[in-house]
Amino acid sequence: MKIAIVKETEDFEKRVSATPETVKKLISLGFSVNIEEDAGLNSFFSNDSYTDAGANIISDVNALISSADIVFKVNTVHKDGKGSDNIKYYKKGTKIIGFLKPLQNQEKIKDLANHNIDAFSVEFIPRISRAQSMDALSSQSNLAGYKAVIDSVSEFSKAIPMMMTAAGTIAPAKILILGAGVAGLQAIATARRLGAIVSAFDVRAAAKEQVESLGAKFIEVVLDNNETSNNETDTGYAKEMSEEYKKQQQDLLHQTIKNQDIVITTALIPGKEAPELITTAMVKDMKAGSIIVDLAAEAGGNCKLTKLNKTVMEHNIKIMGYANFPSKLAQDASSLYAKNLLNFVQLMVKDKKIQIDWKDEILKKSCVSYDGKVLNL
Ligand code: NAI
Repeated sequence: MKIAIVKETEDFEKRVSATPETVKKLISLGFSVNIEEDAGLNSFFSNDSYTDAGANIISDVNALISSADIVFKVNTVHKDGKGSDNIKYYKKGTKIIGFLKPLQNQEKIKDLANHNIDAFSVEFIPRISRAQSMDALSSQSNLAGYKAVIDSVSEFSKAIPMMMTAAGTIAPAKILILGAGVAGLQAIATARRLGAIVSAFDVRAAAKEQVESLGAKFIEVVLDNNETSNNETDTGYAKEMSEEYKKQQQDLLHQTIKNQDIVITTALIPGKEAPELITTAMVKDMKAGSIIVDLAAEAGGNCKLTKLNKTVMEHNIKIMGYANFPSKLAQDASSLYAKNLLNFVQLMVKDKKIQIDWKDEILKKSCVSYDGKVLNL
């Protein structure tokens, strides 16, 4: 059983899918581990640290991938991929595991199937208790929520906590978090630790208790019949909302946003364009010098004026739309992701052989290409 760890080539990507610590564990499971030369450098894992852990460093991409049974990836491979991200190096039956973005990349998934590459997408790992240690979406979103707050604060021209000085008192900053999932809850916790007054909004009524338990105020849309809408699916994700709800949400947000200093948006409905929550009119009504960080930029953005992977100044408001915050914390992001993959790949190993047990819901639901066929799409 051979695992290959490749050097990621996408712009802004610094993460790597195995660390010296996980390499040791993979070897104890019976794998031999080959790592592309310099794959870990951007996460500060040296080639030597991998060889000390028992891996082989390989510089020839063809030799690395064509001998692999399983390839660990952060991002997907495709026809135009650079270096080891190019599909041409992958042989029939090789299994790849990574953030393949299947809902956004349906054509690329078809290409993987046409090349007979078996592909497992970590985004489709079901959010059940047994899979928590494999939940890469959560491990990375958690870091993204933290870093979004840190970056916004470093761009902000005022202080966050209340400060009482001889020259006068500085009022605490107000931070609003839109979407209280994994990223949003970590953003709330981080903003609170910095001393901000934090409020948050989510369409799922279940989020209220979690928001309040972190010491933030929950902003709630109450429909005309006085009922709070709950827009949660059986799998715990948000549904799309009624027009009436959207209208009331917009009015409430518009009023709230006028008084905020920093807004972090994380609202997402899986497989859909991100809901547009912050309109141009709302941006115009914000206080000069305020900041918006739009974590949903890659899915189209929660703010109308977000530009993907850019920081723009619009109506005196700085809007940051960076797509890969976890990569800015590459050391921790890689460590957590590597552990997620280590835990996942163990499901595929029996008696030191690779065997896919299709009765296992985690493998079944996360597989997007197998034996030449596209699955789960
Ligand atoms: P999640 O699924 O745990 O949370 C999303 C939350 O948004 C849910 O609580 C959902 O109920 C809420 N939501 C959906 N529609 C809404 C609406 N109209 N108004 C208010 N709330 C709404 O997702 P997670 O893991 O927290 O990720 C959040 C977002 O951040 C996603 O868009 C994800 O793709 C993105 N992300 C971006 C990163 C970056 O570096 N830019 C890194 C990690 C995640």
